[in-house]
Amino acid sequence: MRPVVDLVAGARPNFMKLAPVVRAVTEQGALAFRIVHTGQHYDEAMNQVFFDELDIPAPDVHLEVGSGSHGAQTARILERYEAHLLEDRPDASVVFGDVNSTVACSLAAVKLGVPVAHVEAGLRSFDRSMPEEINRLLTDAVSDLLLVSEASGLANLRHEGVAAEKARLVGNVMIDTLLSRLDAARAQGTAARLGLPERGYGLVTLHRPSNVDDPATLRRLVTLLHELAERLPLVFPVHPRTQNAAATAGFGELLSPGGRQGLVCLGPQAYLDTLSLAAGARVVLTDSGGLQEESSVLRVPCLTLRENTERPITVELGTSRLVGNDVDRIRVAFRQALDGDWPAGQEIPLWDGQAGVRVARELAAWLNA
Ligand code: UD1
Repeated sequence: MRPVVDLVAGARPNFMKLAPVVRAVTEQGALAFRIVHTGQHYDEAMNQVFFDELDIPAPDVHLEVGSGSHGAQTARILERYEAHLLEDRPDASVVFGDVNSTVACSLAAVKLGVPVAHVEAGLRSFDRSMPEEINRLLTDAVSDLLLVSEASGLANLRHEGVAAEKARLVGNVMIDTLLSRLDAARAQGTAARLGLPERGYGLVTLHRPSNVDDPATLRRLVTLLHELAERLPLVFPVHPRTQNAAATAGFGELLSPGGRQGLVCLGPQAYLDTLSLAAGARVVLTDSGGLQEESSVLRVPCLTLRENTERPITVELGTSRLVGNDVDRIRVAFRQALDGDWPAGQEIPLWDGQAGVRVARELAAWLNA
């Protein structure tokens, strides 16, 4: 009998990581798997569209937890995943990334003695005010197999006392998805549909609590974006968290959709449209970890609106530079990026489209040992 693994996903950034692992596990045939969806993200545009575009089979188990405070959401996932584990115990749980679903499911599993493998282990921003940093630390602490996307992850785990034989550098599974979908994404012509020529616009995303939860900070950033967009049109797919924060603070109209010039605000975009926009952009401004990595591979200058990153390779070898959320600093960096005064970026080891294959092999070797 083949070992059975639960492949657990819940939020938008998990789905691009899940897809290549599902494909590789299926092709290699050494493991049986079930897809478990926690339901942390549930809107069509944040969820189903990724399953459709990335050919991910429908989840076998859906926990339907929905939104809530950190405590409430994490507790609901923990409780519902535990109930599933008690009913139908797998040989291991495989979790991805650093969202609340990741930590909740790894905790539910380890407490029942189900071994946990963490894909994208070891990343550290060393900023414990970020919810994701807490999720990363706790998930890694209870994981038995730590599959790492960049070398800093191995060093961090070693520093935290994790036994070397538990950790493996496998590369970046999200980049597998990027490389396999890039042609299809370019063919979408998403910017052209908005009337924007290739390299004639910038792409913006903003959803970190540190940038959007404080109304004064968010207003400052949005005002700056309107100013920068006079120099280069900016396309801004607005995350629901950001839209809600602006609306609650009384300036939702600054992010209202429509218009083909200046700051072009859209709702959350599907995977191929987002990749299409990123690939054709002159510059990216973002606080997303995923987009820092994608911009680096696409060799598009990336202003990372954060003070730190858990993905230092994107600064060392990639095209990302940390610019925080200070408007003067962002203005200067924006000008430099448009003037071509920006690192071109280099290839990043093992971000080669084969990370999912390595993950599947490591999982099989681990469970068959
Ligand atoms: C979560 C992750 C974050 C990731 C981001 C990508 C955690 C702690 N955070 O943040 O690491 O970068 O996803 O999107 O897990 N909402 C909707 N529709 C949805 C989902 C959410 O409208 O389908 C709204 C709800 O108002 C919700 C808010 O967005 O309260 C925040 O959602 P949540 O999942 O709590 O966190 P994100 O900000 O999406």
